[in-house]
Amino acid sequence: MPAFQITVNGRRRSVDVDADTPLLWVLRDTLGLTGTKFGCGQGICGSCTVHLDGKAVRSCQVPAKEAAGASIVTIEGLSKDGSHPVQRAWIEEDVAQCGYCQPGMLMSATALLSAHPHPTDGQIDEVIGDHICRCGTYPRIRKAIHRAAEGGAK
Ligand code: FES
Ligand code: FES
Repeated sequence: MPAFQITVNGRRRSVDVDADTPLLWVLRDTLGLTGTKFGCGQGICGSCTVHLDGKAVRSCQVPAKEAAGASIVTIEGLSKDGSHPVQRAWIEEDVAQCGYCQPGMLMSATALLSAHPHPTDGQIDEVIGDHICRCGTYPRIRKAIHRAAEGGAK
């Protein structure tokens, strides 16, 4: 098997996997970064979302060969202790219920805020509406994103 070089959370890693192995499994099984969740495996639910060169992508749909040479950030890379401003806003708004979808939501929210520092409700809904949260946390996620945008995560 070929060895792929990827940078994950600022650390360069060499992974020996089949070229078509989904990045999700490289992260979870090869590198032990289990914060990224498996939901549908079909690019639908968003629970596996990570950043690839700064863009939110569904890691179940990215083969290892496409991630080679790229910089990946996972939920573990946002902060070591939950102190990232968006994570703090999440806590302030008491967003999570079961929590399963939340790493993916956070990765999409941070990518949204990078592209649009003060997103509208419509821009937020377009992004989070493309994720599945069976617990229905969408209204609180919207509030948390606005809170983070206002620098209101205290
Ligand atoms: S597990 Fe990747 S989108 Fe659902
Ligand atoms: S918090 Fe339970 S699925 Fe979203």
